[in-house]
Amino acid sequence: MSIHVASVTAPVNIATLKYWGKRDKQLNLPTNSSISVTLSQDDLRALTSVAASPTFTADRLWLNGKEEATVSNERTQACLSELRKLRQELEGKDTKLPKLSQWNLHIVSENNFPTAAGLASSAAGFAALVAAIAKLYKLEQSMSDLSRIARQGSGSACRSLFGGFVAWEMGEKQDGSDSQAVQVSTLDQWPNMKAAILVVSQAKKDTSSTTGMQLTVKTSDLFKERVAHVVPKRFIEMKGAINAKDFEKFAELTMKDSNSFHATCLDSFPPIFYMNDTSKKIIKLCHLINEFYKETIVAYTFDAGPNAVLYYLEENEGKLFAFVYHLFNKVEGWEKKYSQDQLNQFSSLFEDDIVPILKNSLDEEIYKGISRIILTKVGPGPQSTNECLIEESTGLPK
Ligand code: DP6
Repeated sequence: MSIHVASVTAPVNIATLKYWGKRDKQLNLPTNSSISVTLSQDDLRALTSVAASPTFTADRLWLNGKEEATVSNERTQACLSELRKLRQELEGKDTKLPKLSQWNLHIVSENNFPTAAGLASSAAGFAALVAAIAKLYKLEQSMSDLSRIARQGSGSACRSLFGGFVAWEMGEKQDGSDSQAVQVSTLDQWPNMKAAILVVSQAKKDTSSTTGMQLTVKTSDLFKERVAHVVPKRFIEMKGAINAKDFEKFAELTMKDSNSFHATCLDSFPPIFYMNDTSKKIIKLCHLINEFYKETIVAYTFDAGPNAVLYYLEENEGKLFAFVYHLFNKVEGWEKKYSQDQLNQFSSLFEDDIVPILKNSLDEEIYKGISRIILTKVGPGPQSTNECLIEESTGLPK
């Protein structure tokens, strides 16, 4: 049996300038440009293997061990048909190539983090899907070209095709041919950017991003101001801050943009609430930490859910964790990253004059709202891998 396989891993990205709003739902064209940081795949990644064979009777997709019906959904099919078109062009130029574009695909994908964490897995998932098929098809397109395809799967997925610091340029054209991801700054240019994700416990599922942003576009007046004036200015400023490695400016813009995005959610009608009480306490804590040191050492940002992502520089880890480890040491996740000696070091950095500050302005039981902490950093884009989730003799998941 002739089975061709390829595997790729792709990262999660967390926006520092948020994508919120579509001007074209079909093509996933945004109402504003956005910027994100790609996180390390050591901690968060999707691994996707794809196989093509003339013997497969249908396109099939397995996600975290379970076969999914989503392979037939419009967004996945949009990605598959664009990739098949590009493969067909290659096959047209070189007739000796096997006609992979005409064969069905088996796609097997796994995340290395629990889906229960409520972390946006669709970005990593669609980026891995597109990058894996591009590898299988031996496509020569650039990452920006592929990002336009991944965008159609999930908007934010286009940014996961690059490592480091990434912009999604909204573009102007109706066909979306200029709405793509580009590199703002590589991982090597600012490698000491770290991230701590505070996974906030929450029983109920939020309004999905797709539904939420449609409602905001339709009903929020504040949103109009955001896309017309606020984001365009911030987009330029944030690219400047990243290139200048100006953490203070980067942090200010990141926090303000998270707040602005959530304000437009509150201004939607009926309002959408993504942050909960724990999220709000984390915001307060970050401002308190920055005030205590009289220096901006941490920035928070929240997506369409209550989880907090904190950005900070490696050199400020001790200062930040003097607070964060003190408050969240009971939460799972520290031992995976740090030795007991290092953890004791964080405790020893805790200064006694922090106690009254915390007592006066913060709920010391804040840790009860957090289910785990993921300690990570900025990372690279999609990677080719020999790890394979598909049995080559059968074309089925291993
Ligand atoms: C709040 O990319 O998940 O995380 O394009 O409808 O799939 P769809 O939406 P999605 O939205 C992400 C929204 C966000 C902000 C961001 O990542 O920029």
